[in-house]
Amino acid sequence: MPFRIRTLNAISQVGLSRLPGDKYTVGHDVTSPDALLVRSASLHNQPIEPSVLAVARAGAGTNNIPIAEFSKLGVPVFNTPGANANAVKELVVAGLFLAARNIVDAAAFAHRLEGDHATMDKLVEAGKKNYVGFELPGRTLGVIGLGAIGVEVANVALSLGMNVLGYDPGITVQHAWALSSQVEHVTDLDELLKRSDIVTLHVPLVAGTKGLIGASQFQAMKSSAVLLNFARGPIVDEPALIEALEAGQLRGYVCDFPTPTLNKRPRVVTLPHLGASTNEAEENCARMAADELRWYLEEGTIQNS
Ligand code: MLT
Repeated sequence: MPFRIRTLNAISQVGLSRLPGDKYTVGHDVTSPDALLVRSASLHNQPIEPSVLAVARAGAGTNNIPIAEFSKLGVPVFNTPGANANAVKELVVAGLFLAARNIVDAAAFAHRLEGDHATMDKLVEAGKKNYVGFELPGRTLGVIGLGAIGVEVANVALSLGMNVLGYDPGITVQHAWALSSQVEHVTDLDELLKRSDIVTLHVPLVAGTKGLIGASQFQAMKSSAVLLNFARGPIVDEPALIEALEAGQLRGYVCDFPTPTLNKRPRVVTLPHLGASTNEAEENCARMAADELRWYLEEGTIQNS
């Protein structure tokens, strides 16, 4: 009897080719599944079917899966750490430049320009005055969370001539040093916030990181600082963020999660959760998740659970 795998999102066919048709039945409409393969769909508040032996998430974060509930039933939940790190890193780096050069506001300004060449020239002059940016070498980037993505972002920032501070209470100083000896590791979050020109978040959303950046953290930050959030929206306390922006305590916020309150706000850029949305990342994640399920179902081997 083939193993039955229900996919809860569109999953890359390249990854699914790891589950050959003679051994696996895979699809959205599979009933009594042996395993679930999910990207962003939430499994919270969904009944757990007794047939399910394993769950795999094609992505790093697992906040859309009630891990404790599955664990109680002895059902492993796999994820794909690192498989989309390059894609996320590239978007974060785009976020660095975007913040430093006011690219989104300036592009919107240029898009609205109308008139003949002489009018354009005048408007261009106005744009040059309004959208003066800053350069990255010598600036300080604070990286919160030194997992696969945080370390990749830190390394690009170093190669751009930035100073990099790293904060991650989950790792030892020795481990942090092994990850990157050029990152200055700080053990006090406030110190990182006080010294950084740009702060970037790379922690998972768990009970301890919900609202990690709130009113007192905004107070600690430079008023000229920009916050990048390509991790998860609720890591930043949204009312406190809005207050900080309105009070001039923060220069800007770039994030990968639109919300009704944040969208269209000045000095806020939101993207529709595009961090891992490249063909390469989708293939890598799907391939890794499919392999994890295959190894578990066929051999009982557990990887990344
Ligand atoms: C992740 O947790 O790695 C991302 O949310 C992946 C995705 O966008 O699916």
